Amino acid sequence: MIKIDYTNVMAETIGERDGILREELLSFRHFVVEVHSRIQKEKEKKFYFAKLPYQDTTPIKELANEIREKFDYFVLIGIGGSSLGAEMLFQSLTDRNYNLFNKPKFFVMDNVDPEKFHAILQQIELEKTCFNVISKSGSTVETIANFAVVFEMIKEKLGDRWKEHLIFTTDPEKGFLRKFGEENGIKLLDIPKPVGGRFSVFTPVGLLPAAVVGIDIDEVLKGAKKMDLVCSVEEHVEHNPAYLIALTHYLANMRRGKTISVMMPYGERLSSFVDWYRQLWAESLGKDGLGQTPVKALGTVDQHSQIQLYRHGIRDKIITFIQIDKMEVDYKISDNIPEDISYLSGHSLHEILNKELLGTKVALIKSKVPNITIVLDKVSPYNIGMLVYLYELATGFSGYLYKVNPFDQPAVEEGKNFTYALMGREGYEEKLEEFRELYREKYKIEVQ
Ligand code: PA5
Repeated sequence: MIKIDYTNVMAETIGERDGILREELLSFRHFVVEVHSRIQKEKEKKFYFAKLPYQDTTPIKELANEIREKFDYFVLIGIGGSSLGAEMLFQSLTDRNYNLFNKPKFFVMDNVDPEKFHAILQQIELEKTCFNVISKSGSTVETIANFAVVFEMIKEKLGDRWKEHLIFTTDPEKGFLRKFGEENGIKLLDIPKPVGGRFSVFTPVGLLPAAVVGIDIDEVLKGAKKMDLVCSVEEHVEHNPAYLIALTHYLANMRRGKTISVMMPYGERLSSFVDWYRQLWAESLGKDGLGQTPVKALGTVDQHSQIQLYRHGIRDKIITFIQIDKMEVDYKISDNIPEDISYLSGHSLHEILNKELLGTKVALIKSKVPNITIVLDKVSPYNIGMLVYLYELATGFSGYLYKVNPFDQPAVEEGKNFTYALMGREGYEEKLEEFRELYREKYKIEVQ
């Protein structure tokens, strides 16, 4: 179960300067109805992610079972949309000590930080490792570079058997991984053509790693399906959770100057959900001088770090809290504690966590900071499926509000192109020229 409480974003609660009027929400009625019908029609193309919850997962589960039988380590090599979704499912839906007690142990090689790379290598045995190289384009520098180093290592260690330790998840037709995989008989999984990186968690990009670590991916998709059904039927913004999230954030941004969207879960499991959300919100909507900057925070830790700013600093934020009603475990404070701290007697850690959330919310109301709370009855595959789909659709819908294409990322591609040029890739000579024109190191200070 997911509940969205948006009371504290409304003008009734925090006043008209910072809060949204109900009339404002409702004034978008015709717009919402029109966009709603366009989205339903676009499910074959741009909104293809909406079809993914309905897929047959048998092949993915079968492959995951094979991997679980054969390997003790599963390493995902990928970055951005090709890693954040799988990492989010792993962090939120497996035990926090998963790698200590379970197999296959799961690692993500995303960055090209040699120390991180080395640290992972130290924890695995190549002869027992399956490497899942994930890249839609099949050419992202970080992914291909990490793969290239691994490739030499497994060839040397495993001889002819190196192929059996690789799975490529990539574009169904083009790119280096596709070509190299086909030429060498490597197991290949397709990322459907219309699905871009950050919307790909419900393809083999996210589902295979999730199934390998034992997550019930059918339950995840069941949750996504439920959210899709609700959002496909409900045209009214007050009944459609995705449109509500989109519109409240849009109005807060464009009419109340809330240029920053903070997401603050009270539960560390969901910390990586925020990493996933940050990419989705930033890369999809940060276009044409528009978009909200997504910021990650964690309750209660950041109460002691950020809340001063959120309450009394610049009034540019809307906050989304995530509350978890039931946790896997809890610890109670005994009655037998010193008198000075006896107000804690009989209370549990989880109870304190949620009371702190409540306290923070009221403090924010006092400072008129708009905030929404998403309540999960528990962190389950079903609820995470709902939550993921909710934000994917909210992001897609927001594209219409901002009048930007939420499914491309031209500004990311530009950075990638300059990197290719700097690495001497053929065909990028003009980019190198452009780089030389643009880049200066003129003003510097150095301290030895
Ligand atoms: O969402 C996106 O499209 C990007 O963040 C990509 O996922 C990221 O740049 C990695 O690209 P690729 O999957 O092509 O390696």
